[in-house]
Amino acid sequence: MKTYIKDLSTQQDSVVTLQGWVQNKRESKGLIFLILRDGSGFCQCIVDLGNIGEENFASISALGQESSITLTGKVVADTRQIGGYEIHVDSVDIIQNCSDYPIANKEHGIEFLMDQRHLWLRSKRQWAIMRVRNQVIFAIHKFFQKEGFVQMDAPIFTGNACEGTTDLFETDFYGEAAYLSQSGQLYGESMAMAMGKIYTFGPTFRSEKSKTRRHLSEFWMIEPEMAFYDIFDNMDCIEDFVRFVVKEILENSKMELELLERDTAMLEKTVKPFIRLTYDDAVAIIKGEKEVDTKTTIAVLEADLVETKAQIEALKKDIAEREALIAAGGMKKGKVNFNLNTIDKNKNQIKQLEEDERNIPQWLESAKNFTYGEDFGGSDETVLTRMFDVPVMVYDWPHEIKAFYLKRNPENPRFARGVDMLAPEGYGEVVGGGERETNETLLIEKIKEHQLPMEEFEWYLDLRRFGSVPHAGFGLGLERLVAWICKLPHVRETIPFPRMYGRLKP
Ligand code: 4AD
Ligand code: MG
Repeated sequence: MKTYIKDLSTQQDSVVTLQGWVQNKRESKGLIFLILRDGSGFCQCIVDLGNIGEENFASISALGQESSITLTGKVVADTRQIGGYEIHVDSVDIIQNCSDYPIANKEHGIEFLMDQRHLWLRSKRQWAIMRVRNQVIFAIHKFFQKEGFVQMDAPIFTGNACEGTTDLFETDFYGEAAYLSQSGQLYGESMAMAMGKIYTFGPTFRSEKSKTRRHLSEFWMIEPEMAFYDIFDNMDCIEDFVRFVVKEILENSKMELELLERDTAMLEKTVKPFIRLTYDDAVAIIKGEKEVDTKTTIAVLEADLVETKAQIEALKKDIAEREALIAAGGMKKGKVNFNLNTIDKNKNQIKQLEEDERNIPQWLESAKNFTYGEDFGGSDETVLTRMFDVPVMVYDWPHEIKAFYLKRNPENPRFARGVDMLAPEGYGEVVGGGERETNETLLIEKIKEHQLPMEEFEWYLDLRRFGSVPHAGFGLGLERLVAWICKLPHVRETIPFPRMYGRLKP
């Protein structure tokens, strides 16, 4: 019977057949320890010379990394193994023995790995990230379906810009200029008038000619749009939605988060109410003019800097001690390896801390000097979210810096009813949305102000001419959410084949 590694717990002490790839292999005194991966999991399989015969042993011993095999053996409980089980092998059928797999089980540079993305996806870390992405997508659908939203898809070829004209990808549509969609929102608004509550979930495209850790040229966006919702209903929806997804991941992706060594303490805090701040209050906090829990951003960042330096020193000391112990000799091989691994981990952590050490003074400077009326940069978001342990929603932005379609605050038309949700731990904007302008005259003014071609928006204006109602919605960037949930340094690892400035292949 063919079994998947994920199901081994139901097969204890029986003989099963597994099919997969040799992820790793080591040999010691007549035993071969294979790590088999089959897509559903990883499992140690032990081949015993005495059991399998010399000829078979030799051919298994010759298997290269990523060779494909069918293997039969007994399922034995072993709590030291990742899944809690190992296989005592009876026989192995080789499907393909391969050699010189480009990605060895050691550190590689990121550009090399990106060039090998078609193979890199097989590695344990990437496997775990993709599985979290899958669970996030599942949770997203679960949330909206249970809340009575209808999924409808917006077109990818569009005639108009939704989010400003600077980052459009232009393409040729039978001789007519067309743009790859930056956002399905305008179509989402139309569909919400037909259905009440909808969400779109599709790829969106932005030509961002800069390399940052949060920008892709092609990314997946979830865009709910709700009739009869105002900005506050919208914020309730964002909060319920993000909390639901995080909770589902904490419940269903434990093993993956563990593999990624994700400390989930911050994620667990999302059960608490999110913070809601107007732009004005957020700016006062960023600049250090307004305290949060009796502390200013300036004081918190200065303390962070001191703490960061202390952590770096402590890690350096730990490395020196371990190196001295190894150098003294007489240590068992297993212990040496353990210490070498710890040293590597510490060195990586130092690299990250040193980046903070360089960044914090810059964050401090830009926070102090933030000019009221401007949009937030990545560092402003980091500084603001540092003050809270749950996501922060900033709303009522100066209308000049926001999209043309946002409604003005009726009490103070200087502000547009946009809302950004900023994730903690330095991740920043994950959601952007708001209440939509329903006043046709104001909309026309805005379209002109943004120098957008009026004729392309005639159908959109129809939505304000026929049964116009208050409505709101938002867009969540899937890759940014996955990056935060997994605590990854860059969004490029959150999508199977990232497309970004300087990266089109493989
Ligand atoms: O804030 P944005 O530009 O908002 C919109 O597109 C609205 N039309 C959405 C709506 O109200 N229906 O983008 C929404 C989110 C951002 O918060 C971010 O998470 C993600 O999309 N995003 C990107 N993700 C990766 N790479 C990029 N270049 C991104 N640009 C935006
Ligand atoms: Mg935005």
